[in-house]
This record gives sequence, C-alpha cells and structure tokens, in this order.
Amino acid sequence: MTIIVTGGAGFIGSNFIYYMLDAHPEDRVICVDKLTYAGNLSTLKDVMDNPNFRFVKADICDREAIYQLFAEEKPDVVVNFAAESHVDRSILNPEVFLQTNVIGTATLMDASRKFGVKRYHQVSTDEVYGDLPLDRPDLFFTETTPIHTSSPYSSSKAGADLLVLAYHRTYGLPVTISRCSNNYGPYHFPEKLIPLMITKALADEPLPVYGEGINVRDWLYVEDHCKAIDLILRNGRVGEVYNIGGHNEMRNIDIVKMICKALGKPESLIKYVEDRKGHDMRYAIDPTKIHSELGWLPETKFVDGIRKTIDWYLTHREWWEEILSGEYQAYYEKMYGAREELKPEAPKSDETKNPDETPETPKPDDSKREPLPIG
Ligand code: NAD
Ligand code: TYD
Repeated sequence: MTIIVTGGAGFIGSNFIYYMLDAHPEDRVICVDKLTYAGNLSTLKDVMDNPNFRFVKADICDREAIYQLFAEEKPDVVVNFAAESHVDRSILNPEVFLQTNVIGTATLMDASRKFGVKRYHQVSTDEVYGDLPLDRPDLFFTETTPIHTSSPYSSSKAGADLLVLAYHRTYGLPVTISRCSNNYGPYHFPEKLIPLMITKALADEPLPVYGEGINVRDWLYVEDHCKAIDLILRNGRVGEVYNIGGHNEMRNIDIVKMICKALGKPESLIKYVEDRKGHDMRYAIDPTKIHSELGWLPETKFVDGIRKTIDWYLTHREWWEEILSGEYQAYYEKMYGAREELKPEAPKSDETKNPDETPETPKPDDSKREPLPIG
C-alpha cells in the first residue's frame, strides 16, 4: 500500500510516520510537508534513508505540485495531518488557517478523486465541538454532538470536516474523519502547553498559565492516536466520523504543577497571565464508537506518558533548543510580550487536583454560552 501522509514533519504526523513504517514495513510512506515554522525536517532524520520512505516539500494548497505527486505515486491512501494547528496563532492571523486547513483539504480531496485514492482520511480535532461547561462532568462529545466552534482554528477545521463529508456524499469519495483530543509526546512543538512548560521550566523561566488555569483538556499520548488512525484506515467504515480520546481530563494548572514537580522546579515559576480570547473551558471525548466498532482503547496512562515525554525532552535537548534559538523567539515575544501578568486573588486551585475529582465551575464569561445539545 502507498500512503501519502501530509504534515508529516510536524508533531503527530511524524509520530504517525514512525509508527507506520515500524508496524507495516510492507507499506510505502510519502510525506508531503511545506515545512512551515512547525515542520522540522530533523524530526524525520531517522527515516530519511528508509527505502520505503520519501519526503516531498510541497504546500497542500499547490494544486499543480499535488496533482503531479499523485500522478507519480498513485497513492492508495491519503492521511491529512497538514494544518495550521495553534489556537493562539489563529487568533492573531486567521487567514493562513483558512488557506491551509480548508483550501488545502479541498485540494487534496480533488487530487484523491482524480487519481482514484481508495481512502482519504482527515485528521480532525475535538475542538470542532466547541467546549463543555466545567459544572457538567457528565457531558462528553460524541460523533453526533453539533459542530459549535470557538476559535478561527477550530472553525477552519470544522469547515474542512464539512467539506470532507460533502465530498463523500456528492462525489462518493471514500473518506473517514477522526476527531481527537489533545495529544502529547515526543516532537511536540514548544509553543503548545506541555512542551512549552517543560522547556521553560528547564530554563527556569516563567510558566505562563492563561487565566486561572482551570480549563480542562482530555490528554492522549500521541502513539495511541496513531494506532487509532491506523485502525480506522484498515477497519473503519467509509463516510464515518470517529472520536478518539482517553478519558483523561486534566486542568492546565495541575499539569503545570506536575511538570514542576517532575523537574524539581519551584511552583513560584508559575505566572497567571491574561486569558486566551474565547478560551474553551473543557474538552472531553466519549470514545465508545471507536472502542465498540474497532476495539481501540488508549494504552498509555497519563502518569507514564508524561514521564516518557519529560524524559524525551531531557534527552533531546538539541531538537528543541534549535527551534527555540530561531524564529520561535520572535514569535514568543509577539505572543507574550504584550500579555500583562495578572494579579488576581490566589487562583482557586492551589493543591494538585486528583483527576477523579469533579472540576470547578466555569468563570461567568464562559457560562454565558448556551449549554451544548449533546446528541
Ligand atoms: P503541527 O503544527 O505540529 O504540524 C503541522 C504540520 O503541517 C507541520 O509539519 C507543517 O509544516 C505542516 N503544514 C502546515 N501547513 C502546510 C501546508 N500548507 N502544506 C503542507 N504542510 C503544511 O500540528 P500537529 O499538532 O501535529 O497536528 C496535526 C493534525 O492533527 C492537525 O490537522 C491538527 O488539527 C490535528 N490535531 C492535533 C491535535 C493536537 O493535540 N496537537 C489534536 C487533535 C487533532
Ligand atoms: P494548547 O496546547 O495551545 O492546546 P489547545 O488550545 O488546542 O487545547 O493549550 C492547552 C491549554 O493550555 C489551553 O487551555 C490553553 C492553555 N495554555 C496556557 O495556559 N498557557 C500557554 O502558554 C499555552 C500555550 C496554553
């Protein structure tokens, strides 16, 4: 089988390439990546010489380049990870999100139709469902939860999902979509919460926690996500959406404190800063469908996954130090330079949360949103 993996020089795409070449040595994998600020070719250095692997630098919006590649490689499967993926960047500059995440997806699907691809898989996100209130721990996102986005990032991903389903219905393109919760693990770009906090803590720099740090995310070790996508490609039903998540809800502040503890750093490094605009309160996936249809379950417990992740950042300093020394610095200044440090009363959450506890109620701003009709 020949598989085109787009965005394979980024976090999840690269982990997927390593996983697939190892799990299916009979398959050929072609990585297409534009190498934006988030794409790092050094991430793929260990597979560059693998005869079953090819890297092609191209923009998924570049129709000519994409058609030419499809004509050459005649792929059986396309897995689209390529995206602008950072919510904060989408708030600063939505346009590139629409371009890559929507137009890029349409271009790949047009090529898939033209060259008879047998499966087009869209890697989507639970963020398309918007957020859940903190005071309703009984609510989870299912595949029938209405799309209800908050950020330009999630809106662009939702737009792409709708196009994917439309291409299936209109043209009969054999598609699948997976909507996953927050991933963590090796090669995670250090602008996202977990790697940002690890790398900042190692440098004894302030750890910027947005608002009160009580927002909840459902964290999944990246390899578990890769395994789920592989299962969907092989056994998933065409035209279907599969949610992927690990029932591992954590508050941001608790994760940051865990990282401080693991690295022997003081919690005094934590700085509560101005909140993200439109900040989603809670994401939580109901993974019943992928479990009952495909037998998928997450295998890595958070305590083990976070330990492995921290160890990886400790033993791969050259990977992230190279990133931090480059363009990322200017970006960091732009993003955080203007964010004033907040000096609220002590945040509600001072002791590390037991993950079994019910999270606290949302701030008034977020509770203004209508509760989601959960289907
Ligand atoms: P990432 O930002 O680490 O990597 C994105 C990759 O896409 C980079 O290598 C970048 O160079 C490439 N890319 C960007 N624009 C491109 C273009 N126009 N043409 C070709 N390549 C381009 O992202 P990630 O965290 O690995 O996320 C991968 C996918 O998974 C995204 O679609 C994202 O929406 C989705 N997702 C991510 C998470 C998460 O927690 N990170 C969770 C659920 C879903
Ligand atoms: P992030 O890793 O950007 O993922 P997402 O927004 O897609 O969930 O952020 C995870 C959570 O961490 C989110 O609630 C925002 C918060 N956060 C901070 O508190 N400080 C930071 O510096 C960053 C990047 C995120």
